[in-house]
Amino acid sequence: MPRILSGIQPSGQLHLGNYCGAIRQFLDLQAEGHELFIFVASYHALTSQRDAAALRTNVRQIVVDYLAFGLDPAKTNLYVQQDVPEVTELAWLLSCVCPLSWMEKMVSYKDKVAKGLPASVGLFSYPILQAADILAPQAEVVPVGRDQVQHVEITRDLAARFNEEFKTEVFRLPAHRLAKDAEVLPGIDGEKMSKSYGNTIDPFQEEKALRKRVMSIKTDSRGVLDAKDPDGCAVFRIFRGLAGAADPRTVALGAKYREPLLQSPDGFGYGHAKQALFELILDHFGPARARRAAIMADPALVDRVLADGAARARAVAQETLGRARRACGLD
Ligand code: ADP
Ligand code: TRP
Repeated sequence: MPRILSGIQPSGQLHLGNYCGAIRQFLDLQAEGHELFIFVASYHALTSQRDAAALRTNVRQIVVDYLAFGLDPAKTNLYVQQDVPEVTELAWLLSCVCPLSWMEKMVSYKDKVAKGLPASVGLFSYPILQAADILAPQAEVVPVGRDQVQHVEITRDLAARFNEEFKTEVFRLPAHRLAKDAEVLPGIDGEKMSKSYGNTIDPFQEEKALRKRVMSIKTDSRGVLDAKDPDGCAVFRIFRGLAGAADPRTVALGAKYREPLLQSPDGFGYGHAKQALFELILDHFGPARARRAAIMADPALVDRVLADGAARARAVAQETLGRARRACGLD
């Protein structure tokens, strides 16, 4: 079975987009019995964060949330990137075979700079560090959302380039894996849901605040008696992303959008759709919400999980790094 690896940056509270694009895939792959390496991309977060206390808190919170969503440390190696320093050494070796032009065509760098992130060398070469994350444990499958596909492709190219230049098969070539209904989930403003846009929905938010958040999703001005376009509506798209396009609840909601008068004598408004989404979130994340409270109350558990995960990740990373060093004559 192929080895799986993925990571998420600790830049804020995880949200429904992260869950539908990435975390749900981790859970499916774990259930299929694969060996998983799932980590918190703390080095990557330094490209944007300057608050040490906030970074520490965010790292722990993501681990707690991974566990609450259902990642099982008995099956999945959970670790924090900084606990596997071999990755940064590997990133240097890779950077020496990476043509500058490969980094220059990376879309995420341009996007991030356009959004105001400082244009540091770290941000520019970020995909090389990501390649090292993936190649260190020789992962073959990388479950991610659409915005990360280019990074996995460059990882493949870098692995092939290194093997070719040093004439040794040091690295396996990885491939990305997208979620089944791979959609980019919109946030409450209709733009891509993202930690950095302040438009996210947090599935662990306290019930009253969560309802308020769902009710604040931006919709157009069509009223209860008007037919509406589900595909153009953030409420429907989030519902579909979470429940699945083929789920009967999604099909029924889509039908109500299209023919509101036929479905109910009182019509069907966005308020009804939002209530349905709120209930879906509570239903879907009920068990995770309950688990999270227990995990938060046991910080020693998180320490143990991270120590075990890092030990395993380091062991495999050291092996790969040793081979890469030998291939270049650095042993
Ligand atoms: P963010 O944009 O919130 O900072 P990250 O860049 O940390 O999210 O992404 C972590 C993972 O979640 C990646 O695999 C990414 O593709 C996925 N992801 C993030 N936002 C969304 C979204 N709105 N819809 C689907 N997947 C997403
Ligand atoms: N760049 C990813 C993101 O912003 C996080 C990440 C870092 C990652 N290293 C990785 C994802 C390796 C998959 C594999 O979401």
